[in-house]
Amino acid sequence: MEDLSPRPGDLEAIETASVDELRALQTERLLRTVRHAYDNVPHYRASFDAAGVHPDDVRELGHLARLPFTAKADLRDNYPFGMFAVPREQVVRLHASSGTTGKPTVVGYTRADVDMWADVVARSIRAAGGRAGHVLHNAYGYGLFTGGLGAHYGAERLGCTVVPVSGGMTERQVQLIQDFRPDLIMVTPSYMLSVVDEMERQGIDPRSTSLKVGIFGAEPWTNDMRREMEERLDMHAVDIYGLSEVIGPGVASECVESKDGLHVWEDHFYPEVVDPVTGEVLPDGEEGELVLTSLTKQAMPVIRYRTRDLTRLLPGTARTMRRMEKITGRTDDMIILRGVNLFPTQIEELILRTPELSPHFQCVLDREGNLDSLTVLVERREHAAPGAAAEAGVRLKGLVKASIGVSVAVDVVEPDSVERSLGKMRRIVDRRPRR
Ligand code: DLL
Repeated sequence: MEDLSPRPGDLEAIETASVDELRALQTERLLRTVRHAYDNVPHYRASFDAAGVHPDDVRELGHLARLPFTAKADLRDNYPFGMFAVPREQVVRLHASSGTTGKPTVVGYTRADVDMWADVVARSIRAAGGRAGHVLHNAYGYGLFTGGLGAHYGAERLGCTVVPVSGGMTERQVQLIQDFRPDLIMVTPSYMLSVVDEMERQGIDPRSTSLKVGIFGAEPWTNDMRREMEERLDMHAVDIYGLSEVIGPGVASECVESKDGLHVWEDHFYPEVVDPVTGEVLPDGEEGELVLTSLTKQAMPVIRYRTRDLTRLLPGTARTMRRMEKITGRTDDMIILRGVNLFPTQIEELILRTPELSPHFQCVLDREGNLDSLTVLVERREHAAPGAAAEAGVRLKGLVKASIGVSVAVDVVEPDSVERSLGKMRRIVDRRPRR
């Protein structure tokens, strides 16, 4: 794989500024954001007042914890434009996240917001090894989802030649990769797997393509999945994180030279990690729920937004800004099986350590009587004989028991029989009857 480390002069000054400089900038921006939210969004005024706090009480970063959290429900309650801090006429773009239940959550951007967003995505692509002049194949979905357009404008900002493919039509994805010879691909990791399978089906060696880097995000994926991708595609695989409520992709990103977690672009998004149950702020290094505060957004500032994503904050390495560890999962995706907590990412790791099994899997939850059960539905790899794959399934069951401490069933199925994603993969299928 090519060495794509940044060269001197490649980085923005703030990426290598001292921690003190960074904290000073954050403080100034935080104070301005808190005031802006309080003065212009009735929801924030009401929630601060109810908590007995005022923007004047926030004079340094440590005072942030005095402010109440913001939850997805607050955005829903103010559907569609109630969280905007500027007149609607100043909003140049809307996005929305597909609510699985009820109304979607709507986000708005001023011209300055879409500009800042393009800047942080450009920074993310550069951190991943992208450069002006590279061809970038963008397979994130275009539309209300922030992935497609977010990646698109960031790539243009960096000076890439963008191929706006969007998700789906997998055969055509392969064709365009062969014909346009992209250096970079942006796509969800689960859809990348489908694209790789399609290459193999067409007799193309995935290691032979022009791709140098895959920038994967929008869903959890593990370091074992990174190894799988890098090995099968002979390219770097790096992680990009974000959520529509905060901006979209580009809140945090991995650097290709270190691949040790995602640097949070802290000059624009201030991270905290809290205990998901008590809401207490945890020290860096401890795992909990990521909470984000925007520092420069105009149209829809977010104060202490509860992401529900589990991670921990670590000191900066390749950049001054702190890192967040790869996301373990969302609090909503935690499976509680007979008192044991588990996440699909833990299953992914164990599957990828079992050579006969492919990374196409789902966790199916059922209930018999009063007892919940979990079946891991996983495909055998094309090259593994059915008998050997069945034995591997038994081994996987043992691995889950030994490392997670709970009994599950494993159902090894034929290649191509587990549902495929075109974007975010549905890892958990809940068949339990509603009580
Ligand atoms: O998924 C934004 C995005 C697009 C990020 C493309 C990266 C690449 P939403 O649809 O609002 O926005 O979903 C946000 O997806 O709270 C996480 O649970 C999950 N997520 C996003 N990136 C990652 C990642 C986009 N790198 C929700 N690792 C977030 C794990 C991720 N989970």
